[in-house]
Amino acid sequence: MKILLLNGPNLQLLGSREPDIYGKTTLASIVADVTRLGKELGFDVEAFQSNSEGELVTLIGDAPRNGFSGIIINPAAYTHTSVAIRDAIAAAALPAVEVHLSNISSREAFRHESLTAPVCIGVVAGFGAFSYEMALRALANRLGALRNA
Ligand code: DQA
Repeated sequence: MKILLLNGPNLQLLGSREPDIYGKTTLASIVADVTRLGKELGFDVEAFQSNSEGELVTLIGDAPRNGFSGIIINPAAYTHTSVAIRDAIAAAALPAVEVHLSNISSREAFRHESLTAPVCIGVVAGFGAFSYEMALRALANRLGALRNA
């Protein structure tokens, strides 16, 4: 089973971007860890990062046709603004887990609303790079349950 791992705008800067908020772990290291854990759990993880809302929408929209069974997405700032990404997740109709490094609920008011969370099966936020591991375990658990249904 294939899992699509998507990271949105500015996340290519992880490691040096506001390390007090986002930590010092690079995106390459996060992707490597998630891919390795995915293998252990029996999933192939394919990762993409894009600063472009439209590109993310296309990747999500193509996910079922490209054979993905689930999505892990950190939509970054688009979390709070993108009806298009929300609609793409709903249209793909695959189990999706939203992930954030920071606890968006404890930050500025404009980060408190997620337009994408309601179309995801759940959200993991606030645990830095470890949020991704939990998101993967949560999605693997759901996909495993579906596989055995
Ligand atoms: C983020 C939180 C967003 O509010 C922010 O715009 C980001 C990163 C996080 O992972 O904590 O770019 O998604």
